[in-house]
Amino acid sequence: MLCLGIESTAHTVGVGIVDDKCRILANESSVFSPLKGGIHPREAANHHAENVVSLIRAALLKSSVDPHDLDVIAFSMGPGLGPCLRTGATAARALALAVDKPLVGVNHCVAHLEIGRATTGCGNPVLLYVSGGNTQVIAFAEGRYRVFGETLDIGVGNLLDKFARGVGLGFPGGPLVERLAAEGSELVALPYSVKGMDVAFSGMLTAALELHKGGRILGDLCYSIQETVFAMLTEVSERAMAHLGRNEILLGGGVACNERLRSMVGRMAGDRGAKAFVPEAALCVDNGAMIAWTGLLMHRSGSRLEIQDSLVNQRFRTDQVDVNWMAVGAQ
Ligand code: ATP
Ligand code: FE2
Repeated sequence: MLCLGIESTAHTVGVGIVDDKCRILANESSVFSPLKGGIHPREAANHHAENVVSLIRAALLKSSVDPHDLDVIAFSMGPGLGPCLRTGATAARALALAVDKPLVGVNHCVAHLEIGRATTGCGNPVLLYVSGGNTQVIAFAEGRYRVFGETLDIGVGNLLDKFARGVGLGFPGGPLVERLAAEGSELVALPYSVKGMDVAFSGMLTAALELHKGGRILGDLCYSIQETVFAMLTEVSERAMAHLGRNEILLGGGVACNERLRSMVGRMAGDRGAKAFVPEAALCVDNGAMIAWTGLLMHRSGSRLEIQDSLVNQRFRTDQVDVNWMAVGAQ
């Protein structure tokens, strides 16, 4: 079985093709980077519209798959930015109609989890999903992926991006902050905001920007932001693992590329006799392969979607999805 998946929730438009063993035959993408300021949904959607057809062609070419040999077409149904989501969905509908294949609408957050499970070999983990727009602690319970903790304001990647932009470093902020953090040595006190299994970052953003204006060394600030936010995320992940009795933690989302976060979470897991799993970087960031794989799981377990019901949902929650493919076996 072959599935082509289209991702287009935010900055990235991606097209992936996977088979039923989760072999990734193609995973092509293009990232919209605004010249200045934050992401403008319409501009990002225009970028996606300009690139999606050539990405589909490139993915088919790379995988040597004839579009008529595809079994199902999947797309990111949400959560995300309306115009971006609609662009991906339109492309998916057009392709599904052209080759007369079924369509599946995928929850983006669930897709981060499923590609991680399939490619790292973990079974029933707590997922720490950390990206620009999302920060959630997720685990499977009673037929659904439930959100046990999440950000009460902005996503952790958004904090890093806004800080980097605010101090003139550029975009995306995460890798730039990570690089500068290596030059820092002094731990500056920043708001540590954990409420149960929830976290909040906007107080830290304001404080860090103020400290920068006050002349604090940028390397020390980057170092301190990383130490503080990753400690917060490690704490809530550990709390979820302890309460749920899980001995696996899986990282996902673009911020999971960060070496310091990986090592902190790995250390926490090791200390409690648990295991940490991290997908390769290309599968941590937004990508089409994760949408294709989750679409394939959904289709294989009987999920069907008519074109007229394929409207995107900007606020599609992780726990709105019936996860009935667990019984079929995801790996
Ligand atoms: P979503 O729609 O899931 O919110 P997104 O648009 O934020 O996704 P991702 O590709 O999952 O896209 O993540 C991008 C984020 O990851 C950016 O905020 C970026 O700064 C951050 N990031 C990337 N690499 C690193 C890194 N090495 N360290 C920290 N953050 C990183
Ligand atoms: Fe994402």
